[in-house]
Amino acid sequence: MSVTTAATADLAYQQCLNPECRATVGVDKALFACPACGDLIDVVYDWDRLPVPSHLKEFEAKWSRRLDPLCFSGVWRFRDLLPFAPAEKVVTIGEGQTLLQAADKVGQYVGMNAGQLFLEYEGMNPSGSFKDNGMTAAFTHARMVNARRVACASTGNTSAALAVYCSATPFGFKAIIFIGSGKIAYGKLAQALDHGALTIQIVGDFDDAMARVRQVADRLGIYLMNSINPFRLEGQKTIMFRVLEALGWEVPDWIVVPGGNLGNSSAFGKAFIELKHLGLIDRVPRLAVINASGARTLHELVNGQKLAWLDGLPDPEVTRKYYGAMDSSGLKASTIASAIEINRPVNLKKCLRALDFCDGVVREVSDQEIMDAKARVGAGGLGCEPASAASVAGAKKLREEGIIAPSDRVVCILTGHQLKDPTATVAYHSADQDQFEKVLGSRGVRRAGFANRPVVVPNDLDDIIRAIALYSETETQ
Ligand code: F0G
Repeated sequence: MSVTTAATADLAYQQCLNPECRATVGVDKALFACPACGDLIDVVYDWDRLPVPSHLKEFEAKWSRRLDPLCFSGVWRFRDLLPFAPAEKVVTIGEGQTLLQAADKVGQYVGMNAGQLFLEYEGMNPSGSFKDNGMTAAFTHARMVNARRVACASTGNTSAALAVYCSATPFGFKAIIFIGSGKIAYGKLAQALDHGALTIQIVGDFDDAMARVRQVADRLGIYLMNSINPFRLEGQKTIMFRVLEALGWEVPDWIVVPGGNLGNSSAFGKAFIELKHLGLIDRVPRLAVINASGARTLHELVNGQKLAWLDGLPDPEVTRKYYGAMDSSGLKASTIASAIEINRPVNLKKCLRALDFCDGVVREVSDQEIMDAKARVGAGGLGCEPASAASVAGAKKLREEGIIAPSDRVVCILTGHQLKDPTATVAYHSADQDQFEKVLGSRGVRRAGFANRPVVVPNDLDDIIRAIALYSETETQ
């Protein structure tokens, strides 16, 4: 296929990430890989010719204009920093009304000084996860290119978000989602079904579903909504803008984020590259990307095999060999944090760029660490699903290693709502040993050290009163 070159007059265009290719294509095209070399694509802006605020504080003017959907949206109020779409094409459902919670009890668990740990709660989005930040941008682009059928492979949240954007907007979008059979949490499956998405359960896992949806999208000309779509990442940059906004435009020391398909970490890196380039921040936070031990590709490649960005030319042999070994040993991703149960992260290369720019680190955390951290987030914060708690477990690990200092200002991204995966939560807290073994024991979780067990009492007033006296006393001891 020949490459259509973006008109030089374009203020925004798509560009291949590979410095040896750098093919450019207009934003009026829907492409999910470079047409010349197959590498990832970025959305790139000609900042010198675009109106950009001289200080981030200027965005505060939008707060008083909340009746305008583009000012209300926590994504589009930062439109000047993702200026690829005309205002009349924007598809928004009011996403990005999130908050940054100062969470001292969780901070104590992590080992931070008081006032230094913050949780960016993305579960407040309409579909209950951070995905809405990306969906609003990708749906906007889909409208720009007149797409109707939209598809994704998903561990659950992308599909839930995609289904919501189709059902809640009047533009005739039709949702087709691919999920690994038995691989997604109930809350997420419930959303896809309730919102009317065509839900294709394939026998396999996310990596299998991802490979298939790319083939299907290619064959049938369906618009792809996974984070391989560069417009998704434009929307997800705004998670960082809102973190800065909530900190009075001060840059924290650390951003800690779970890593699955590596869209978020890639988007965060791009956000900071652009903010620094535009002179809107004077320093960059460090980035920590946290894998689950059962889906540890990034950890293995970066820490084990020393894979690095190298100015856009990471050694492809390293990844190829690792994936080959994974295939020949039949290794499949396996973690209770089903959202990040991914062994072939599509945005690997962009994540390497983010790690390079943000002096990043990668860690893995076990399912035990994830579930314990999740219980602490529930007890001291707004609650989250297992994958999100990987960020808190990862911060704790980096704190123990002395890489994060207790006086650092740390922001952990809580990517998904607590109610997305009730099965994992109830199994952890429940006194039902069979349930614990089935859901968690099988994953190597041995203890529920922070369990809040339900108390079973006969249906008798005196027994109930005795139980309250007994258990509320125990609690205060
Ligand atoms: N946390 C949650 C709750 C997620 O749903 C995901 C990804 C991640 C973290 C990882 O983010 O891919 O940007 O590194 N979920 C995708 C999905 C893969 O299909 O819903 P990432």
